[in-house]
Amino acid sequence: MIEKGAKHLVLLSRNAKVSDQKTKRWLKSLDQRRVKVIVEACDVSDARALAASLKKLESHIPPFKGVIQAAMVLQVSHFLWSSENLADTLRRTFFSRR
Ligand SMILES: NC(=O)c1ccc[n+]([C@@H]2O[C@H](COP(=O)([O-])OP(=O)(O)OC[C@H]3O[C@@H](n4cnc5c(N)ncnc54)[C@H](OP(=O)(O)O)[C@@H]3O)[C@@H](O)[C@H]2O)c1
Repeated sequence: MIEKGAKHLVLLSRNAKVSDQKTKRWLKSLDQRRVKVIVEACDVSDARALAASLKKLESHIPPFKGVIQAAMVLQVSHFLWSSENLADTLRRTFFSRR
């Protein structure tokens, strides 16, 4: 999107934390290229939360021209559906990483 000229990006995730150095460097490099990146906390499976985030963003950036849906929660385990792990698995899948 940036190579095609996008100057405003919004990155949504439930935690919206940028803690690792590699991502910080990437964001800084985008800033130097005058690409504005907004990192916003939002659960995209929650229609109300998503609508509220989009409404809030409307006043900060131009109209949306593209969306990439990349949210996923991957759990690979032999014991995924065993009863003692089921509650933990569901909790990790549907709620934020802590
Ligand atoms: N990695 C690969 O090799 C690979 C290969 C082919 C395709 N893909 C696809 O690429 C996409 C991203 O993969 P990835 O490896 O980058 O995964 P990742 O590092 O686990 O990133 C997934 C992101 O989705 C966010 N997320 C999960 N549920 C969400 C929700 N309800 N609302 C908002 N954000 C949510 C997570 O953040 P929070 O937990 O903070 O919400 C996380 O930052 C996936 O769709 C995957 O299927 C990946």
